[in-house]
Amino acid sequence: MSDTFNDSVFNNSLFNNFLQQSQTRINKALQQELGDLQSPFSPTDSSSYLSRLQEAMRYSLVNGGKRIRPTLVFAAAEAISNNAATDALDKVAAAVEMIHAYSLIHDDLPAMDDDDLRRGQPTCHKAFDEATAILAGDALQTRAFELLTTIPDTYAETRLALVATLAKASGIVGMVGGQAIDLESVNQQIAIGQLETIHRLKTGALIRAAVSMGAIYAGASNEQLTKLDSYAEAIGLSFQVQDDILDVESDTETLGKNQGADQALNKPTYPSLLGMAGAKQKAQDLHQQAITALETFGESAQVLRQLSSYIISRNH
Ligand code: IPE
Ligand code: IPE
Ligand code: MG
Ligand code: MG
Ligand code: MG
Repeated sequence: MSDTFNDSVFNNSLFNNFLQQSQTRINKALQQELGDLQSPFSPTDSSSYLSRLQEAMRYSLVNGGKRIRPTLVFAAAEAISNNAATDALDKVAAAVEMIHAYSLIHDDLPAMDDDDLRRGQPTCHKAFDEATAILAGDALQTRAFELLTTIPDTYAETRLALVATLAKASGIVGMVGGQAIDLESVNQQIAIGQLETIHRLKTGALIRAAVSMGAIYAGASNEQLTKLDSYAEAIGLSFQVQDDILDVESDTETLGKNQGADQALNKPTYPSLLGMAGAKQKAQDLHQQAITALETFGESAQVLRQLSSYIISRNH
């Protein structure tokens, strides 16, 4: 793909507006959820430990982030229906972002990647302490599912499908399973197929869930869900391929996390297994796959197409 194409996604006003609006929407929804979290506790019964925990949850949830997963929820819903942009959909997106925030808090812990910088700020366990970071992740995770059970004006079957999709993507056959194999593969020589499995699980699964959940909420048919899932499989993998590339090519300030962290831990990555040119080619191939999967969708899937381009051309 030429630079001209990559430039075009950053200069595209439809895409930029969508991304900005979706960031505003999700930030508002997350603030609302954090406010709701505080309300059950009166000033007298909230212990200082509890307020510290709430502070840690807030710190990791509203400290920036590209908000790609919520944006995918919104864009997938829009691909299916132009009436889907509701407060209830914002809650679906908030639940996905809470799982993502929890996964980052735990990913940075000393027992995992042992990172001290995230989104340009000290990681949660550095800003607070390890126990608080573990509990903040736990509480964000359970809160995400609670939130999905309470989304308004939505059939119980739909809520159940949303819970099931997010739970599966977050657990052993998704993010957590991928993180386990990722840690096991440190200092190991693994084959490209194994690396692909790690990336599909640790990162791809939640991205797939985001797309499916937006589409489920908007009432997608099984056929539409299957096509959107092929798209999401491709961008879920390309997202982590680009994350690996940026770990080598970008800088700490741009990334907001320590550049070179993968190499420092001797983690297998796409650039380490395929070389930088091979990794970039893989990202392009996956982008093409994503575009092909959306072939039968018209204009309503344009933001999804542009998101695929953004994912492989972003610099952080
Ligand atoms: C980083 O995700 C972790 C991975 C799964 C690669 P993002 O790159 O989406 O991080 P934020 O949310 O924008 O900080
Ligand atoms: C993270 O992968 C995947 C998660 C489930 C959080 P990385 O470990 O590569 O993510 P970064 O580079 O720390 O953001
Ligand atoms: Mg990791
Ligand atoms: Mg990490
Ligand atoms: Mg990384």
